[in-house]
Amino acid sequence: MSISPKTTPIYQTSVFTFDDLNALENYFAEPGPQYMYTRYGNPNTDELAQEINQLEKGAGAVVTSSGMSAILTAVLVYAQAGDHVLCAEEIYGGSSSLLSQELTRVGISVTYVPTVDIYSLEGYVQENTKLLLAETISNPMMMVMDLQRLAQTCQQKNIKLVIDNTFASPVITRPLGLGADVVIHSVTKYLSGHSDVTAGVVVTKEAETATRAAQIMRTWGLNLSPFEGWLAARGLKTLKLRMREHSANALALAQWLQQQPQIQAVFYPGLPDHPQHELAKSQGNGLYGGMLSFRLADEAEAVNRFMRALTHIPFAPSLAGVTTSISYPAGTSHRGLTAEQRENLGITVGLIRLSVGIEEVKGLKVDLGKALAAV
Ligand SMILES: Cc1ncc(COP(=O)(O)O)c(C=O)c1O
Repeated sequence: MSISPKTTPIYQTSVFTFDDLNALENYFAEPGPQYMYTRYGNPNTDELAQEINQLEKGAGAVVTSSGMSAILTAVLVYAQAGDHVLCAEEIYGGSSSLLSQELTRVGISVTYVPTVDIYSLEGYVQENTKLLLAETISNPMMMVMDLQRLAQTCQQKNIKLVIDNTFASPVITRPLGLGADVVIHSVTKYLSGHSDVTAGVVVTKEAETATRAAQIMRTWGLNLSPFEGWLAARGLKTLKLRMREHSANALALAQWLQQQPQIQAVFYPGLPDHPQHELAKSQGNGLYGGMLSFRLADEAEAVNRFMRALTHIPFAPSLAGVTTSISYPAGTSHRGLTAEQRENLGITVGLIRLSVGIEEVKGLKVDLGKALAAV
């Protein structure tokens, strides 16, 4: 009897066995389908990497233990002690903490580029500048980056472009096709999609960059576990369907939220008055994603009343799950910034981030409407 499972089984093992020394030598000559040690590679994590690589149309991909370790890997591929990196000012707070608080300690310096200067980079590039890190759709203000324009500038300045594509996913935008050198994701979010995995991925335009990223992943011990790889690969199978539903629901809610008197502003690229709406439309495959932010009165108690009055939508400091949740950037993702930095970015006391799920939108409006009435 031959056993042929339709889906890949979970290879929940830390190590693989060899028959003899010849088998070991064969592995080192051509790792290929043979495996040695899960930190080096495992069928479940390799499958996930290959699937994401295909979606992003990359030359190679490496999965990691988290989105943070994916960013770390991408930076370490290009930069070492004595080097300098640029980072878009509007970025996930954890990314800026990694750069400002940790990588500076090992000799990699960072400069943040305000959005007004991002397409010229005039005055920011030094002799030792290696890369620019930016997000396709920024967290949490939903600013959309013109990736083709950004890639042209980076090429002119002879630096690499690393794009965090977490909020968009490859269903909406494929940065490598627009000129980025590396794409990273927090796979924790849309790619796995069910709020039950923490994972990351680095996808590269050049195959040798992926080989170097794999070396860093192995040696720094940034690998993903087989079970999380399996779960993420399972979630990934429905990415396209989920992104369509997330996007349709988010657009409907953004339009509805704009009409509510308690709301001062709604930030969603699908709204015609969003500053990059036309760009989002052309770069985003007609979809705008499932993330939006809105501003209530800038009073902590108004935010508290809103949160407490929600029945079905929890306050959960993550995003991109199939069920809707809210988060509070000033107190979670961007907590590490100073109050002045947050204010400059528009992350005020009243700013709430909504991760729109794939439920019926009618029920979401009822829950949000009730909470807004309590504000
Ligand atoms: C845009 C973005 N990039 C990276 C990360 C880090 O990912 P992880 O939490 O999987 O390490 C996050 C986490 O929220 C994120 O929102």
